[in-house]
Amino acid sequence: MTTAKGKVYFVGGGPGDPDLLTIKAKRIIESADVIIYADSLVHPSIVEFAKDGAEVHGSKEMTLPEMMRLAVDSVAQGKTVARVQSGDPAIYGAMIEQMRVLESEGIEYEVIPGVSSAFAAAAVLKAELTVPEISQTVILTRAEGRVAMPPKEQLKDLAAHGCTVVIFMSITRTTRIVREFRAAGYSKDTPVAVVYRVGWPDQKVIRGTLADIAAKVREAKITLQALVMVGRALDPALRQPEQPGVGSATSHLYSAEYTHLYRKSQSRTKPAGSRLTKAKEESGESKTTGAKAS
Ligand SMILES: C[S@@+](CC[C@H](N)C(=O)[O-])C[C@H]1O[C@@H](n2cnc3c(N)ncnc32)[C@H](O)[C@@H]1O
Repeated sequence: MTTAKGKVYFVGGGPGDPDLLTIKAKRIIESADVIIYADSLVHPSIVEFAKDGAEVHGSKEMTLPEMMRLAVDSVAQGKTVARVQSGDPAIYGAMIEQMRVLESEGIEYEVIPGVSSAFAAAAVLKAELTVPEISQTVILTRAEGRVAMPPKEQLKDLAAHGCTVVIFMSITRTTRIVREFRAAGYSKDTPVAVVYRVGWPDQKVIRGTLADIAAKVREAKITLQALVMVGRALDPALRQPEQPGVGSATSHLYSAEYTHLYRKSQSRTKPAGSRLTKAKEESGESKTTGAKAS
C-alpha cells in the first residue's frame, strides 16, 4: 500500500476547444506536477497551461498498468497528478478501472467534470435535445462492436423509446445504426446529425436523415472521433416560428401561465395547489431542500 501524499485529479478536458475547459480544470492543470492527458482526443493546447517543470505525458500509447504505475509513483513522491480525459470523464472514460487501482493503493482522488462532446455537439447544432412533446429524454450510448452491450441495450431496444439518442464511438457503424432505428420505428425522414471533432479547427457537421446519413458519412470519409445524433429534436426547423407541421410546444418553465416557487402565474385562473406542487417538483424544488431550479 502506497502512503498517499499527493493526489490524482481526473479532469474533464472538454471536447477540444481549450476555451471549453472549466476554470477549475484549468487551475488544476496549471498547478499539477504531472499531467497525463489523452492525446488522441484532448487538444494539445491544454499542455500550454502546465507550469514550468511539470512532467507531461500523452496516454494514447500507454496501457492502463503503465499509466497507473506513473500516477501511483508520482503520488508516492508527493506530486499532484492531473489525468486529463476528453469531454466529461464519466462518459466512456474508462474511469472505473483507474479508480479501482487508486482505491486499492489508498490514493486520494477527485473528479472534475468537463463539457462532454455530446453537449458541445448540441451547441454547434443549436439544438435543444429535450424539446417538449418531441423528446424529454436523451440516451447516450454506443453501437455494439468489440465491446458487448448489456442485455436490453442494443440500439434497437433503446431506439424503441423514440427519444433523442447520442451515439458515441460508432461512426463506422452508421449503416447498422440506420437499420436498427428504422426497425424500431423511426421514420426515414428522422433528422440525424454527425458531428466530427467538435471544437477542433477541422470540425465537420453533417446533417441528414435516416434515409441519407450513411451515404453522406461515407462520402465525407469520416471514420473516427464523431458522434451520431438521432431524433426529431435535432430538426433545425424547430427553431423557426410557426412552421406548419413542426409543432410549437414550449417548456412550462418560463411560461407566463405557469406558477412555480419563484414566480406566480400571470394568468387570471388561480392554479390548483397540486399544480404548484408539480411545478416545484419539475423545477427541482422541494420544501425541505430549497435547492435552486436549473
Ligand atoms: C472514449 S469516448 C470519450 C467521450 C468523452 N468522455 C466525452 O464526454 O465526450 C470517445 C468518443 O467520444 C466522441 N468524441 C469525443 N470527443 C469528440 C469530439 N471532439 N468530437 C466528436 N466526437 C467526440 C467520439 O464518439 C469518440 O469516439
